[in-house]
Amino acid sequence: MTETKDQAMRDQTSAIDLHRYPISAIADGRGRELVYECRNDLADRGYCELPGFVTERALAQLVGEAVAASPHAHRHSGLSTPYLEIPADHWPEGHPRVTAGSYSLGAVAYDLIPEGSEMRRLYESDVLLHFLAACLGEDRLYRYADPLGACNFAVMCDGDELEWHFDQTDFVVSIALQRPLSGGDFECVPRVRSIADERYDDVAATLAGSENGLVRVPFEPGSMLLFQGRYSMHRVSRVHGGNDRLVALLSYDTQPGTVSSPLLQASRYGRVARP
Ligand SMILES: [Fe+2]
Repeated sequence: MTETKDQAMRDQTSAIDLHRYPISAIADGRGRELVYECRNDLADRGYCELPGFVTERALAQLVGEAVAASPHAHRHSGLSTPYLEIPADHWPEGHPRVTAGSYSLGAVAYDLIPEGSEMRRLYESDVLLHFLAACLGEDRLYRYADPLGACNFAVMCDGDELEWHFDQTDFVVSIALQRPLSGGDFECVPRVRSIADERYDDVAATLAGSENGLVRVPFEPGSMLLFQGRYSMHRVSRVHGGNDRLVALLSYDTQPGTVSSPLLQASRYGRVARP
């Protein structure tokens, strides 16, 4: 029985560099310190990055799975304001609420990621789930119940970009897999707005090209990024060259049973699937 339990634990964490990141023992010692550091980073700058989170072996496996799946990515592109909403009429021209930037990228839906794959094993790991909950200061997290959006490969090819925006979710978990030849940098202005103050002047300055407060997070394959994007403006700069920029996106929620709207599914994955 114990052996079975040990094996199950090993399967759940086989992709993770547990020597560097002891996420299976967070109650004390180095594991507790790690959680503390992640919480501090999130509080200070809205993101925490763990370089080399997955092992070299797992990274190679994940890249292979993402490359194999990428021809099945649904591509979507268009124009959007930083607030990801249909702009209201009353905002003056040039205001951030009506300033649109372009986005284009592809997404491989969760149901196209094979059962038994390294990606599924990692996403379905309760050890990882509990670690992330601890970092975010949540009693409990749940894997996203959306059959398409729970876990994705985000595929950006030559010319793709994701313009400045704020997320509508509290946090995003991503694992960098494959770097493009150039571009594809993740850039953010941490905590540029708050619940009490939209700070439109600062948002407008960033949209106009100011680098004030801007942080560039280098794309390091194997890194895990835990990012709170609701108040931190961010973008992915235009991708150049042959290699696709490949990222694994892992979605969780503080409530069980959360799914995306049919409209969001249709735009992101080109189809609708209900649980
Ligand atoms: Fe975002």
